[in-house]
Amino acid sequence: ERGMVVDKERTFCMIKPEGVARGLVGEILTRIEHKGYRIVALKMLRLTREMAEKHYAEHREKPFFRELVEHITSGPVIAMVLEGPGVISGLRKLMGATNPQEAAPGTIRGDYALETGQNIIHGADSLASAEREINLYFRPEEIMG
Ligand code: TYD
Ligand code: MG
Repeated sequence: ERGMVVDKERTFCMIKPEGVARGLVGEILTRIEHKGYRIVALKMLRLTREMAEKHYAEHREKPFFRELVEHITSGPVIAMVLEGPGVISGLRKLMGATNPQEAAPGTIRGDYALETGQNIIHGADSLASAEREINLYFRPEEIMG
């Protein structure tokens, strides 16, 4: 059924090293769960340089790429798969703008961050990115149906 497929939309989300270090994991998971999204996979890991370069491959040519890879590999992160209707764009709304100084109050970045390079949370920005990133971090059997 068509509605079922839409309700099962999935995205990839990561709490970045500063979010873990600052003790914001519970707060962020609470916001995600209270919104109504289902956490269908979750793990803590420390990214290797190779993983980080794959994760941020789209930014390879950007001036901030080197810093970005250094940062994301600097400590443990929480990687998740979230499920729910409209979850890809919905998570981006919960996150707020990339630059936390422009992120609205009430969003995660708006409430807890000040710097683009320390913006606490990552969320896939499209269906293609979501699928690519989920496959980068999780095997199919690690995702709860
Ligand atoms: P981007 O994909 O543009 O943002 P988002 O995380 O909202 O999808 O950029 C990826 C990350 O790169 C971003 O979260 C923080 C970092 N970044 C910088 O450090 N400087 C910058 O100028 C930009 C645009 C991003
Ligand atoms: Mg992005």
